[in-house]
Amino acid sequence: MGKDVIIACDFSNKEEVISFLLKFKEEKPYVKVGMELFYGEGPEIVKIISSMGHKIFLDLKLHDIPNTVNKAMKVLSKYNIDMVNVHAAGTILMMEAAIQGLTRHDGSRPLLIGVTQLTSTDQERMKSDILIDRPMEEVVMHYAKCAKKAGLDGVVCSPLEAGKVHDVCGKEFLTVTPGVRFADNDTGDQKRVTSPSKAKVLGSDYIVIGRPVTLAKDPVEAYRRCLREFVG
Ligand code: C5P
Repeated sequence: MGKDVIIACDFSNKEEVISFLLKFKEEKPYVKVGMELFYGEGPEIVKIISSMGHKIFLDLKLHDIPNTVNKAMKVLSKYNIDMVNVHAAGTILMMEAAIQGLTRHDGSRPLLIGVTQLTSTDQERMKSDILIDRPMEEVVMHYAKCAKKAGLDGVVCSPLEAGKVHDVCGKEFLTVTPGVRFADNDTGDQKRVTSPSKAKVLGSDYIVIGRPVTLAKDPVEAYRRCLREFVG
């Protein structure tokens, strides 16, 4: 599977996203559409971005009873998207129902990725709020194994966990990793950050990067720098 850089287009409306994407004259970056943009603009935003020639990771992190997730995925399978995700905490049954709903009549489907533990949840919160007292790494690896068992294509995790996920689930199992900053960048609110070149060494398959590209003086050059460092 080829490595790629996914730009988190965390803009609040379609005008901002379109004007951002129009800066790219030569490349067609892979775009992550998150909840704010999708709920604000509706499915039309997916149509617009895909008609501009971009691949789309629809980051809606579904988590509900299996039947509901299955039906929601049936709807999403009609969109021109390349990747979508669910919370692995929803159980293997829920993830299996998700795949079943996402698979089109011809057998094709977008990649389905499991969210392990959000990077905003630390060990202490996991214990106090959701009564999980196992070490974070064990929890992430367990969720990754469950996602693989359910037939998912990979997980969202920290680049620092990518190598271990590959050890546990195999090289073909994808790791999609946010928390990326250039070595000379401000880290902002991301706590555990890794540069694109370090993420490459650690074995990430896709890096997800937002503000270091979207807020850069020259976003196209910042994106090219990611490609140079991560894809080579
Ligand atoms: O701007 P920045 O590079 O921090 O954006 C990272 C993107 O990845 C955001 O869209 C954020 O919601 C998402 N994300 C994350 N950490 C996770 C899961 C998703 O930063 N664990």
